[in-house]
Amino acid sequence: MSKDKKTVIITGGNTGLGYECAKVIAKNSPDWHIILASRNKDRVNSAVKELIVTTGHQNIIGMVLDLASFSSIHHFVDQFNQAGLPPLHAIICNAGLQFAKGTQATADGIESTFGVNHLGHFLLVRLLIEQLQDYGCIAVVSSDTHDPLMKTGMPAPKYFHPSVMADPQKSDESLAGLSSLAKGQTRYTTSKLCNIYFSYELARQIEKSKRLITVKAFNPGMMPGKGSSLSRDYNPILKFMWNNVLPIMRFFRSSVRSTKQSGTDLANLILDNRYNSITGKYFDGPKEIPSSKESYDVNRAKELWNWSSSVVGLDKRI
Ligand SMILES: NC(=O)c1ccc[n+]([C@@H]2O[C@H](COP(=O)([O-])OP(=O)(O)OC[C@H]3O[C@@H](n4cnc5c(N)ncnc54)[C@H](OP(=O)(O)O)[C@@H]3O)[C@@H](O)[C@H]2O)c1
Repeated sequence: MSKDKKTVIITGGNTGLGYECAKVIAKNSPDWHIILASRNKDRVNSAVKELIVTTGHQNIIGMVLDLASFSSIHHFVDQFNQAGLPPLHAIICNAGLQFAKGTQATADGIESTFGVNHLGHFLLVRLLIEQLQDYGCIAVVSSDTHDPLMKTGMPAPKYFHPSVMADPQKSDESLAGLSSLAKGQTRYTTSKLCNIYFSYELARQIEKSKRLITVKAFNPGMMPGKGSSLSRDYNPILKFMWNNVLPIMRFFRSSVRSTKQSGTDLANLILDNRYNSITGKYFDGPKEIPSSKESYDVNRAKELWNWSSSVVGLDKRI
């Protein structure tokens, strides 16, 4: 057993927001053991090496986790349970992607945006919740693009029954008439709405089970620039705009941020004692604010929870 006191798992921690968040934890908190959990072994291992050199924090490891595969998630949890690490105190559900060039499916035949951004994290958290210590925290990275009133330039979410959102063909039919880009972006904003339904329902289920774990949904704001790879599937013109033009908006709009700034805000949700007792809330950077009106639909949150539980083969109760 390591002499460190706590473990944090950061999904997709090899780049972008997750990487910056890991860096802040590593620089400020020697007592945390950090696991970067991402899909590519080489990328995650080189991120670990870089972080150790930059921060001097030795207790950082990489573990392969592909959220687009139920069996990879189960394997990750088995490996984690056997690794003899310090007690688990935090899970940061950060990994996320969007597609601009057509519909893709996970290894289990789930539409990939919904599958990775929502369902993969759902399964991961459900499998780890027993190991998560009291006074621990789960942070789920959502986005202000879930809220049409925020005027982010992204299409409004279109929530359908989870069996439709999860099925590549039915999802295509439900979004018929949209271009590939608009379809991908709509799936993305809908998955970010699902992240909030999940966070709020998870907080309710935890409360019911009398566990003392908090759940926070987090909006990092728009983070254009080379720090984020979220535009990887965009065409060259949009990619150029994302990398070189949109970052300038940071000087004019507070909703446009850097991965460094938002990585700090995300890390603080875990590290800063003033957030300790807050659960089932949405944070815009460091500030608790209301999420969209639609995101408070308890029936939908329960529907998504129940459907997700049954499709991954778990009981509804935690
Ligand atoms: N960028 C923005 O403007 C923005 C705005 C609002 C919210 N967000 C949210 O912030 C989070 C981080 O975004 P980012 O900008 O940092 O994006 P990013 O730079 O593209 O990083 C995403 C991370 O997720 C990982 N990932 C993708 N698919 C995965 C899978 N199947 N299994 C495991 N890991 C996977 C990626 O791994 P690889 O390196 O192997 O691809 C990468 O480490 C996302 O949830 C995103 O929705 C971003």
